[in-house]
Amino acid sequence: MSHRWQNTHSNYNQELVRGVVLAGGLGSRLDPITRIINKHLLPVYDKPMIYYPIQTLVNAGIEDIMIVTGGRNAGDFLRLLGNGREFGLKHLDYTYQEGEGGIAEALDLARHFSEGEQLCVMLGDNIIERNVVAAVNAFREQEQGARILLKEVPDPGRYGVPRFESGRIVAIEEKPERPPSSYAVTGIYLFDGTVFDRIAKLERSARGELEITDVNNSYIADGSMQWEELEGWWTDAGTVDGLLRASQLVAETGANHL
Ligand code: G1P
Repeated sequence: MSHRWQNTHSNYNQELVRGVVLAGGLGSRLDPITRIINKHLLPVYDKPMIYYPIQTLVNAGIEDIMIVTGGRNAGDFLRLLGNGREFGLKHLDYTYQEGEGGIAEALDLARHFSEGEQLCVMLGDNIIERNVVAAVNAFREQEQGARILLKEVPDPGRYGVPRFESGRIVAIEEKPERPPSSYAVTGIYLFDGTVFDRIAKLERSARGELEITDVNNSYIADGSMQWEELEGWWTDAGTVDGLLRASQLVAETGANHL
């Protein structure tokens, strides 16, 4: 509603969207590189990987950010990032994920941090060329439900893949053998405050995890999922090829352009 979003050029009366960067996990697809270091601390061209998703959130006007870490190097995030001064932030929140229970389980740790507000959740290994300013602003006006960002890719079977009917997403399939479209669901998710109730109702998948795709499917089942296409390149740096590609792309064009 307009009274909750009066001026897009200042923080005055701006709908509060909080940011969460998910940076836990064991990074097993990058073994042995990740045997003694958290994946999100690895270099992507000239910066540690986690700098990119934080910058994406900051560029979208998000100032309240929580980092969910895990594994063996959680303390390194605090030493590296402190209170986020390098990003112009006053404060960063941190929490710790024990074990590897999946993306949705990691997100559940942000329950208290969110205080029922809208969230922009970003996977710590996702890197983008441009920004999500328009999507976050559209979500502020959307007020309820969820919004995801899609990107057309040559190898959708590696990701969550949307199935469309008449321009609407009717389901997302996780790493399907026969992808129902050529789009990947990127690791940038906008969720309303109901996300934690939805996570509480999830059952573990065959790989023993709480899947973010099941969270998205719960919004789709309600008819409250919106989507848009991400502009510019997108890469997930969680595999050996993805990590190399991310460094090459950042070296060639830079990342997080406004
Ligand atoms: C995760 C999600 C998948 C999404 C991808 C984006 O996959 O499960 O739906 O498309 O991130 O990076 P993962 O990289 O954890 O296998």
